[in-house]
Parts: sequence; structure tokens; C-alpha cells
Amino acid sequence: MEEARGWLRNAANVAALTGSGISAESGIPTFRGSGGLWRSYRAEDLATPEAFARHPLLVWQWYDWRRTLIAAAQPNPGHLALVELETRVPSFTLITQNVDGLHARAGNSRIVCLHGDIWTLRCTACGKEEQNLQAPLPSLPPKCACGAIQRPGVVWFGEPLPPHAWLAAEKASSQCDLFLVIGTSAVVMPAGGLVYLARQSGARVIEINSEETHLSSLVDCSLRGPAGTILPELLRP
Ligand code: APR
Repeated sequence: MEEARGWLRNAANVAALTGSGISAESGIPTFRGSGGLWRSYRAEDLATPEAFARHPLLVWQWYDWRRTLIAAAQPNPGHLALVELETRVPSFTLITQNVDGLHARAGNSRIVCLHGDIWTLRCTACGKEEQNLQAPLPSLPPKCACGAIQRPGVVWFGEPLPPHAWLAAEKASSQCDLFLVIGTSAVVMPAGGLVYLARQSGARVIEINSEETHLSSLVDCSLRGPAGTILPELLRP
């Protein structure tokens, strides 16, 4: 931890990749860790265009449940530590796989949302996007003004990431001198590949995770524990 704290103090350009683990202490279940969401659901059943085409109501019931859970959640000390980090380093880019919006609510400003935003609804016909914070939604599935049903503005398995977001994430990962990978199993691509891009570009990599992952033996420093404890500790002056 001491060595990692020193790297952070001397870093000029930091990038962080977060996953569902950073929101776990806000009460939002992860996908694959112990007690993760996917344990009780199959990803193929819910987070794919095919699933939505087959069962739009079932998919919306799941997202409406997640939106309602997230609406009641608060950013935790892990989120807040990354807001503090943004004020400490000359250049900080926060890349997140999360769709919960908690990094924005915590107060970070430079956020790259790789997998979209659960608070955005997108029309399946005219493509119009709108922010909708209602939780729960008054009726499911929600409808666009044009009459067609709306889908969650998130990236589903098999769908491409938003091109501008991916380019920003690649740039930040290849130009940083310190890369933090926080609360992610890093098994979902291409997001997980950003860690390798940062390493190849010469950055030091620090992992923060409550469990060991396939990255733990590859990174320069793997800090084991909850992000809500480790991150504030890492930033302690
Ligand atoms: N602090 C730090 N890490 C934690 C904590 C915590 N309090 N709680 C859980 N973790 C770790 C778990 O050990 C696990 O490695 O967070 C990681 C969560 O991994 P996943 O559940 O796979 O979530 P994530 O990596 O974000 O999934 C990536 O997969 O389902 C898709 O689109 C979805 O964005 C998601 C993507």
C-alpha cells in the first residue's frame, strides 16, 4: 500500500477502470462476484438484443428493478475517493463499465461510460434518447412519443460500445502513467483489455478488488479489500 501510495503521489496522468465492485458497498449487486446478479439470472436471458426482442417486458422488469435499487443507493467512500483523486492529479480519466451513474452523482467530471447509462431510454423505432429518472417506471415497457417501445440506453452483449467512448478509453489507457483497475473481474471484453493496453504502454497498474482475479498476478500491485476502504486509504496523505 505504501509503494502504491507513492506511485499515486508522483503520477501525472492517471486512468481508472471501474466495474460493478465499486458500487457493491452502495448496495448494488455485482454480476459475477460472490452473490453476483448473474448467479440468479443468465446474461443471455436478460442483457442481449435477442432477449429484449423475445421478452421486452421481462428485460424491462429486470432493468426497472435495478433502476429502483440504484435510485435508493448513494455513492460510497470508494466513489468519493475517485472524486478526490480527480482534484489531486494533473490529468485523471475515469473509465467505467457501470451504468448506474454513481460516479457522476459522486461528482467526477471526466467519466467515460463504456456500457451506456441505465437512466437513458432509447426509442427502438426513431432512436430518440431521453434521460428518465423515474423509479419505478409508471408502466412497462416505456413508450416513446412516437408510440414505439423504448429500450434501456445500455450496451448489451454482442453490441458495439459507443465509438467515442471506446476511443476516449483507449487514449486514456495508452497515455497514462498509472492505471487503477477497481472492482472488476475484467472478463468482459473489450473493456477488460484496457488493462493490457495500459501495461503495454508502460503504465504501472494497481488492482483494487475484494477477491483475487486473473489480473492479480499480472499487475504491479494488487490491493485486496473493499474499494470503499482501500481507495480512501490509498489517497490518505
Ligand atoms: N470492492 C472491490 N471489488 C469488489 C467489491 C468491493 N466492495 N465487491 C465485489 N468486488 C469485485 C468482485 O470480486 C469482482 O471481481 O468486483 C468484481 C465485479 O465483477 P463483475 O461482477 O464481473 O462485474 P464487472 O467486472 O463490472 O462486469 C463487467 O459485465 O455483465 C456485464 O455489462 C456488465 O459492465 C458489466 C460487465
